[in-house]
Amino acid sequence: MLDKKELRFFGRRKGKTIKTSKQQLIDELLPKLKPSFESKEVGKVICSDFFAFHPKECWLEIGFGGGEHVADLALKYKEVGFFAAEPFINGVASLLAHLNGSHEGKTTYTGLDENRVDNVRIWDDDVREVFPYFKDGSFQKVFLLYPDPWPKARHAERRFTNQINQRNLYRLMSEEALFYVATDVKEYAEWTLEQVQALDIFEQVNKDTSVPPEDWVPTRYEKKGILAGRKPIYLVFQKKKHK
Ligand SMILES: C[S@@+](CC[C@H](N)C(=O)[O-])C[C@H]1O[C@@H](n2cnc3c(N)ncnc32)[C@H](O)[C@@H]1O
Repeated sequence: MLDKKELRFFGRRKGKTIKTSKQQLIDELLPKLKPSFESKEVGKVICSDFFAFHPKECWLEIGFGGGEHVADLALKYKEVGFFAAEPFINGVASLLAHLNGSHEGKTTYTGLDENRVDNVRIWDDDVREVFPYFKDGSFQKVFLLYPDPWPKARHAERRFTNQINQRNLYRLMSEEALFYVATDVKEYAEWTLEQVQALDIFEQVNKDTSVPPEDWVPTRYEKKGILAGRKPIYLVFQKKKHK
């Protein structure tokens, strides 16, 4: 594995005490869904190898929060393999609960029944650690939904849409792949567009940033923001050719 010291993660890893039932999921279900990169070669990992079936595509969700977005998509797109990363352990526990149908409140799952496909793999840590391992063009869709805004100018480089991460995603995405960024922080959207224009390896392909892309599944954060009067901004990027 890469040396963790090379990457500093500035977010939260733990929140309130995890209930026993969720802790059990972390202890028992997470190890089954967590891919191992031990002994893997840099640049050689094929996402579909992490699944027991051959996914038609692989989609990446960065910072899945409570996991409801990836859980929803995973049920809808059973032929797709999902690689979902989140270092916040309470969020990981919540996704596990969605996946096994034990999440309190409304859930699309009824448990690991015949509707459930084993098409989600969870990386319970900083996604940047595993970027180098994946083969070029591994992902057909990448979701970065409501990333931490890091509003202070001196923290700007912590914003996920920085040029280092853009370069990594450029390599990891296949030719026609789409990179979805949603935020309700206007300055974050503006900064992202500036960074994208400055690097010039992605182009924005959606015209009206106030309209959710087709088939959009709002995250918990998005729903809360809308109720509080915030306006989502949707940015969809595609790789520019020959860069
Ligand atoms: C504001 S929350 C949004 C969560 C979720 N996407 C939503 O919309 O409800 C941002 C999340 O990104 C995660 N995150 C930040 N940096 C990350 C990284 N390098 N790798 C994976 N997740 C990351 C944080 O832990 C946090 O849970």
